[in-house]
Amino acid sequence: MIPFARHCSVAAEAEYVTACLRSGSTSGDGPFTRRASALLGQLLGVERVLLTTSCTHALEMMPLVLGLQPGDEVIMPSFTFSSTANAFALRGVTIRFAEVDGDRWSMGPDEVLPLLNARTRAVVAVGYNGVSHRLAELEALCALHGVVLLVDAAQSFGATHGGRSVASYGALSALSFHATKNLSCGEGGALIVNDASLLHRAEMVREKGTDRSQFLRGEVDKYTWRCVGSSYLMSDLNAAVLLAQLESFEAIQAHRHAVWSAYRSALAPASSRLGFSLQVLDEADSHPAHLFGLLLPRTIERAPLLAAIAEAGVRATSHYEPLHSAPAHGGSETLPVTDGVAARMLRLPIHGEVSAQEAARIAALLVSMLERHGSGGEP
Ligand SMILES: Cc1ncc(COP(=O)(O)O)c(C=O)c1O
Repeated sequence: MIPFARHCSVAAEAEYVTACLRSGSTSGDGPFTRRASALLGQLLGVERVLLTTSCTHALEMMPLVLGLQPGDEVIMPSFTFSSTANAFALRGVTIRFAEVDGDRWSMGPDEVLPLLNARTRAVVAVGYNGVSHRLAELEALCALHGVVLLVDAAQSFGATHGGRSVASYGALSALSFHATKNLSCGEGGALIVNDASLLHRAEMVREKGTDRSQFLRGEVDKYTWRCVGSSYLMSDLNAAVLLAQLESFEAIQAHRHAVWSAYRSALAPASSRLGFSLQVLDEADSHPAHLFGLLLPRTIERAPLLAAIAEAGVRATSHYEPLHSAPAHGGSETLPVTDGVAARMLRLPIHGEVSAQEAARIAALLVSMLERHGSGGEP
């Protein structure tokens, strides 16, 4: 069975982990964290990187750093992972779920504008396959309305918009190094602090609400509990793995792009004939080949198709269930574009153990299944 996602192991990981263990210093903000943060900053073109235990935790830091309160509102797409919403729900912030663009599968300024009001404090852009629709325009819209732009860049490592990394947008952005992501250290993430005025507070939120980071730099003579925070530091062991992954960034990305392009070139010619859609990518955006998704023809049932693909030895899968209609939210919004995208989405495996040749074979298999369905047969 070709799995859906795999950690792409690189040679230096074991060496760095062993060195970290032998050093006797494995907690957060050690030497590997410093090296990984510096390299990450360089790759993203950003200055302030705080490694965290996960993207979920980097997102959870956002309302704490901004001091959001119950009664405040935040706008985000419904078509995202629960962590984007939990981060704000945990602080009692009201969530306004927005539509996504039906061809690009992420939220842009047109989807945000109708939801902006006097209580809106922040907008959370979420990159789908790393791409966040019209991100620079969304940034300008937020600035015009005095609202903070935040970016959930969990899938966006390697993505750019207007020549800048997606994670360099927003006052704060969050990255994921979960095992399913392009680069992974098992569980891990990063908070990117693009607004320098938020750095001190972000450091304290990450260090149990204390000014320990300043203490370690010799800026204060003792450290004190100063605000509400938690323990969001990545262990130096995870940072050792992450450093090795970051050093292999180009090779990992080159492989993923080859697989992604093999899917795309095999599927694109059949899409209008068979009634499925591929992600529309604008000139301003470059995607990071994080996922390969397609929207199935409206007439096809996804579950039996996924079962038939699995029967042929390939694990394909759906994606996010919309949050606006999830039991944890209990809202009454109707978001038909989101519902359609979520119901029709099918993702194909993309990782270090799938070759471009296999991707072409998987694409051909899918095309033949959809052709059989079109002619009235089973998938
Ligand atoms: C958009 C988005 N945000 C946040 C997360 C959570 O990332 P992590 O597993 O690093 O906490 C994910 C996970 O896939 C995601 O897709």
